[in-house]
Amino acid sequence: MRQYIIAGNWKMNKTVSESVTLAKQIVEAVKDVKNTEVVIAPTYLAAAKVADVVKGTNVKLAVQDIHWKDQGAFTGKVSIDMVKEIGAEYVIIGHSEQRQYFHETEETVNLKVKKTLSAGLKPIICIGETLEERNGGILENVLTTQIKGAYQDLSADDALKTVIAYEPVWAIGTGVVATDEQAQDTQAFVRSVMKNIYGESVSEAVRIQYGGSMKPDNAKGLLGQKDIDGGLIGGAALKSDSFFAIIAAAEAQ
Ligand code: 13P
Repeated sequence: MRQYIIAGNWKMNKTVSESVTLAKQIVEAVKDVKNTEVVIAPTYLAAAKVADVVKGTNVKLAVQDIHWKDQGAFTGKVSIDMVKEIGAEYVIIGHSEQRQYFHETEETVNLKVKKTLSAGLKPIICIGETLEERNGGILENVLTTQIKGAYQDLSADDALKTVIAYEPVWAIGTGVVATDEQAQDTQAFVRSVMKNIYGESVSEAVRIQYGGSMKPDNAKGLLGQKDIDGGLIGGAALKSDSFFAIIAAAEAQ
């Protein structure tokens, strides 16, 4: 039985003080949550303060990206040691916004995944197709390329420490959500690709989140699907009540 993982990706939202306030509200809201793993990913600037808020609670900290180098002349970037020191457990890698706007490639995703694992943290690896790719019939090719790229040279042991977030680009921030069936079919395909690479026991253990306009009113249906093990939430994670409602939907499954 795979444990649900509900993660809030705050993207470039919330000042430091707003982040601390939201983190405190979430900690309070989820204090009785037992079965679902709850993760929040504030901006780098807020991460250290949010780390103090979530320490010793059942909320875990993620950051939204890292650089794959240990240190040096990489203006604007943050290393894995920096995020490890503050107590982050997860790193979101390969988000479609990184791919689309900041030149993320299969190769940089793979470098970041390896760096994250080597430091003992866990990557949340984002994959997903554009509407053009889906309509053009190349959905499976696109996802296979992204998965093979991200997992290049990773052992089965390392693969088990990863989480995959399937986020169809056309559903992100648009209010257009994949239907339960579309999400399930695609995530079953993602799991089959993992099975081809690592075999059944790994593919059955790896958790696959859905992301893209997941909200309290559609969470139950999506999370009820066999191959959907959680959510990576954008807009609905920016308020504790809507984020909690999605967590409650996972708890109720
Ligand atoms: P929305 O929930 O705002 O569509 O964002 C999803 C997402 O990109 C999470 O990483």
